[in-house]
Amino acid sequence: MGRIDRETVQRILDAADIVEVVSDFVHLKRRGANYVGLCPFHNERTPSFSVSKSKGICRCFSCGKGGSAVGFIMELEQMTYPEALRYLAKKYNIEIVEHEMTDAEREAETARESMMAINEFAADYFRRTMSDTEDGRNIGLAYFRERGINDAMIERFKLGYSLEGRDELYKAAVAKGYSEKYLVETGLCYRQESTGKVTDRFRGRVIYPVQGMSGRVVAFGGRTLRTDKQVAKYVNSPESLIYHKSNQLYGLYQAKQSIAKKDCCILVEGYMDVISMHQSGVENVVASSGTSLTSQQVSLIHRFTSNVIVIYDSDAAGIKASLRGIDMLLGEGLNVKVLLLPEGDDPDSFAQSHTSSEVEEYIAENATDFIDFKTRILLEGTERDPIQRAKAIEEIVKSIAVIPNEISRTIYIQECARKLEISESVLLRQVNLNIAKNREKEAKDRQRQKAIESISDAEKMSSWVENSPVGADENAAVDPALLSALTREEGGSAKKPTLVIPDNTEREVRERKFMAPYEKSILRYVVRYGMVDVCDAIDMEGNTMPMNVVQYVSSEMANEQLEFMTPLHARVLERVVALDSEWPSDRASYIEKAAAMRDEAFKAGVEEIKENAKSLNEITSAEKILKQQVEEDEQNNVRDYTSAYVEKALASDADDDLRRLAVELATEKHQLSRVHTKYAALPTELDRLPELVSRAVLEWKFARLTCDMQAVHEDIAREAAKGAEADQTKLTALMSQRQEMQEIKREFARELGERVVSAR
Ligand code: CTP
Ligand code: MN
Repeated sequence: MGRIDRETVQRILDAADIVEVVSDFVHLKRRGANYVGLCPFHNERTPSFSVSKSKGICRCFSCGKGGSAVGFIMELEQMTYPEALRYLAKKYNIEIVEHEMTDAEREAETARESMMAINEFAADYFRRTMSDTEDGRNIGLAYFRERGINDAMIERFKLGYSLEGRDELYKAAVAKGYSEKYLVETGLCYRQESTGKVTDRFRGRVIYPVQGMSGRVVAFGGRTLRTDKQVAKYVNSPESLIYHKSNQLYGLYQAKQSIAKKDCCILVEGYMDVISMHQSGVENVVASSGTSLTSQQVSLIHRFTSNVIVIYDSDAAGIKASLRGIDMLLGEGLNVKVLLLPEGDDPDSFAQSHTSSEVEEYIAENATDFIDFKTRILLEGTERDPIQRAKAIEEIVKSIAVIPNEISRTIYIQECARKLEISESVLLRQVNLNIAKNREKEAKDRQRQKAIESISDAEKMSSWVENSPVGADENAAVDPALLSALTREEGGSAKKPTLVIPDNTEREVRERKFMAPYEKSILRYVVRYGMVDVCDAIDMEGNTMPMNVVQYVSSEMANEQLEFMTPLHARVLERVVALDSEWPSDRASYIEKAAAMRDEAFKAGVEEIKENAKSLNEITSAEKILKQQVEEDEQNNVRDYTSAYVEKALASDADDDLRRLAVELATEKHQLSRVHTKYAALPTELDRLPELVSRAVLEWKFARLTCDMQAVHEDIAREAAKGAEADQTKLTALMSQRQEMQEIKREFARELGERVVSAR
């Protein structure tokens, strides 16, 4: 599948009518300017899902979900951005041309695209090999048959077979014009060191393609059919530009809809487990592919549900692995249940030997919470041993301590106290001790991460971190501050603690949090009214030019040489500034369109007048009124187009976080506007825009100043705490800096109307 070009994307976005799109899933009723219905994202009895036709946005005021037409489809149908676009294109009969690539185009495709394309080809090739060659049928297909896998599953999971020959795939791919370079980079082939020949990696193995969220093949697993222990049972694609093992879950593409629908995800270990469960009708299953679960994998699951059931076979290794995975899941705020299969069974064999209702029933009846599970595993056969008991409790406490939600923690503490007959207060104390310990560790990790990020030459840095042990000699070239941050944990600094003053990382985290509401308050105007003019700017030649909200905000920021501290906020602004450069031409063509609409409306109106009027006088006066009317409509249209321009674009942006924030800002009820809809005579937000925007900017600057003053304050305290050793010059400089800031602050306060400003 080719990429959708920009123009087509725009045509799709323009065609998609939010009311029509939502109506396919929600029964909508008109209410005033908007439409309302029952929210499709959560269960409710009274409608809180609101759709604004003019804004092209929908949102649930109860659960907060929603977005533009594209965002809505992505969220509801669990589709990727391009999938949602294709869905809408189909609905509106917009053709997406999927053309054969020319050599030049193939060249121009990015490396990622090329690798994806090769993988797609290879998956197809392996599948055809399995059905169309004798070896494929006799060896590959026969193997899957023997393991009870049916054709539907072979189709669904794109299973295949790779021939024994040295370079069968290689030859087929090259013949089709795929490049050797990407055959090697995807790991489908590798270059033999001794001979320099390029060789197929998965020779003589059955193939399990690994699909990403949108269904594209990012990697392969190949299982040997030999039973001797000389060869590895599985060979997997190496990490590459398009494959990061820790970011993928096997089967997620096939399972995601079922996971969302059942609001539960079953976690197993292997390829076969997933496939056999699917075949038995239990489709909400994914596999971590034999490695321990990563936090990225957990958050993938979390996008679809908060409930996870971990199934492992009853062998000891499986259980050990599951214990760590449980804490990972709990730590991300998921509800975890654990299921132990009968002795000797794994999910694959269990699903193969039971009907789907038996499987579902077994899961429902035997899934237990992690306290029961850990207790059972850790105390098995040692119930009377107090040391074992203490160890088990310690393990459970560790798990409870990673749960982010305090209420859940409390409930688990009560559960645990009851089940293990131990006092709640003792447990609570232990849990809190663990929480403190985890926090400390996190702070250190953050600091270390920060230090790594701060290195300008990121590439040099990352290779250095990977390749050399901290403290080795060749690190002499590395920034000493970085080095000390990295080595701090090893107890390098023996300085005695003085005052508790936050270090730079903590300071930044704190400031970022403090600034966020001020930044959002500015962004709210940027998103809602970005292209609306708010003031005049004077250029170098002395000409005045209107300045819109985006330009005003970015010039104010440039003046202060400041940026938004929250990366997402900075990203939004960056995106809007880019939009601003497209705005003049879009505006010009809309003005043309609006004028044409005006003329048309006028013509139609005149016809009508002529038909109904009784005298020439009547015609003249009616025409005059009509003219005024259509011109007013025209102005309104241009004004609406202008104010909706930014939010429309952002609400359909490909960046998930950006899009969500934009929708939130565009639909959020604001105190001002609520008052104004009630008393229509009062000025609207749009009327007061210049004042409101400049105030938001001023408040933001004031907040930044507050942060800076606090920092200087702390620096003074830090220096002063050194007593006799304090650097007097530095101290004096800091003091005068503080003085200066205090004056600026007073100035600000005056401008803000002597009002105490507080974050909202
Ligand atoms: N795995 C791997 N490399 C190995 C062994 C295992 O990548 N050498 C991964 C595979 O993703 C595999 C999972 O770990 O699916 C579980 O391993 P295992 O239980 O040994 O394999 P099964 O999936 O059960 O395969 P089969 O039933 O065909 O033996
Ligand atoms: Mn197995």
